[in-house]
Amino acid sequence: MDKKHYAVAVDGPSGAGKSTLAKAAAKELGITYVDTGAIYRVIGLAALRRGIEPHDAAAVTAFLPELEIGLKHGNDGLQHMYLDGEDVSDAIRLPEVSMYASAVSALPDVRAFLLEMQRSLARTQSVIMDGRDIGTVVLPDAEVKIFLTADEKVRAQRRCLELEQRGTPKPFDEVLAEIRERDYNDSHRAAAPLRRADGAVLVDTSELDFEQSKALILKTIREKIDA
Ligand code: DC
Repeated sequence: MDKKHYAVAVDGPSGAGKSTLAKAAAKELGITYVDTGAIYRVIGLAALRRGIEPHDAAAVTAFLPELEIGLKHGNDGLQHMYLDGEDVSDAIRLPEVSMYASAVSALPDVRAFLLEMQRSLARTQSVIMDGRDIGTVVLPDAEVKIFLTADEKVRAQRRCLELEQRGTPKPFDEVLAEIRERDYNDSHRAAAPLRRADGAVLVDTSELDFEQSKALILKTIREKIDA
């Protein structure tokens, strides 16, 4: 008998640990992790490379049909992103791409363009999908919804550590200002703003370490699903 597919929607602000935790939970549960922010980042990167102003709705909308966006899960289980055939999985992590991604993600045409791509990924397999509007817009019928957050200073501290480990350190104040700006943009835009979905379980990781956060997420999922 076919095992029923299920979906876990994880939304929250940047730097809350969504991708690290969702990836770890996916591994433990044997399901696919989908990072939707990476898809917005590909469009942000494309705008940056073409010298397009990312807030310019007409210019961004005009170039969307030209883009060939690919998403593949490698044998390692990791999600790779492609732009016009090139693997851009590393390029989309550049700090300047974050702001471009945030800007293009506010455009309704961009969101509409990506909606079906995201939904189709959850149609044929069990997924844990993270983003900003997964529980509210993309997968409103997800079996489990989690709103993952942490205090902004804790998130900034974590981001600083990550940047340091990558060899691209940045001052704390600068990182905090960027987090605030992105939080504001992501939750104040008219199109699918970041908000806690009805029925989403709030998970605040401010005072939890990675293992504690992971255990809490898995418990939340297993309480709703026989996984
Ligand atoms: O999670 P991230 O930082 O990689 O996401 C990059 C940007 O994309 C972020 O500023 C908000 C946007 N985003 C979105 O609007 N909706 C999603 N489902 C995922 C990301």
